[in-house]
Amino acid sequence: MTLIDPHTLPARPTRTATTRSVLMCRPEHFTVVYRINPWMDPALPTDTSLAVRQWQTLYDAYIALGYDVQLIDPVEGLPDMVYAANGGFVIDGIAYGASFTYPERQPEGPAYMDWFRSAGFDVRVPVEINEGEGDFLLVGDTILAGTGFRSDSRSHQEIAGIFGREVVTLNLVNPSFYHLDTAVAVLDGTPGQEHIAYLPSAFDEPSLAILRERYPDAIIVTETDAAVLGLNSFSDGYNIVIASRAVDFERQLREHGYNPIGVDLSELLLGGGGVKCCTLELRR
Ligand code: ARG
Repeated sequence: MTLIDPHTLPARPTRTATTRSVLMCRPEHFTVVYRINPWMDPALPTDTSLAVRQWQTLYDAYIALGYDVQLIDPVEGLPDMVYAANGGFVIDGIAYGASFTYPERQPEGPAYMDWFRSAGFDVRVPVEINEGEGDFLLVGDTILAGTGFRSDSRSHQEIAGIFGREVVTLNLVNPSFYHLDTAVAVLDGTPGQEHIAYLPSAFDEPSLAILRERYPDAIIVTETDAAVLGLNSFSDGYNIVIASRAVDFERQLREHGYNPIGVDLSELLLGGGGVKCCTLELRR
């Protein structure tokens, strides 16, 4: 007979890492020459080589974690292509392509779809406006889908039909958190142990009620951490790559048994993106 002494039980939950496959785009042509979100100011100088060096630290962090990191060639004249999360949404080997809201980014849609095809994914050309994993997050078997600034809510029906999964629409209300992945972080997406973090003020009341009801144990981040795009992070279920400036989020993650790894992408923040924006998960 085994006696379990409650005092020996771990105070923190045990987390398990699952290795990831991701797509990234080196910011060789990164700059801010137009303004499609409040973070962007074409009057401020940008340093492309610094952006590349900072991006490299994210790439290196993923390699150190043992991830499979694929690269898409950056295209001159598409400075936002570094934000690979917007290039599509990939589950079960099916890649739902992006159709961008603003003309400045529209050519990225076909560029990413070409890459998906060449990598052997079953590409679905979108009918509706959507910005890929910027607004779609897989949590368990459910797809959380953002709308309000970029992806059209009609794209939520479209992905429901393509992936045959439950899609939950969430309305974003703060222009600084214009993509769902700036307002929600999926910490553990494993079915049965779903765990997220979010910024309540980024959502309207009905959406907030849905989040509270579905994820009562979610981590609530501070406005300060959200303001450095702390939520824009990438988790493998144990290791979570986050903005190094999101110090309170880092502490909360540790308390919940995760291993936060800080990176500094300050230059890419000038375009309104962080860790997660630079990362598109490829689920075969
Ligand atoms: N400048 C880009 C835009 O406004 C940033 C995209 C950030 N991507 C993201 N997944 N949140 O479209």
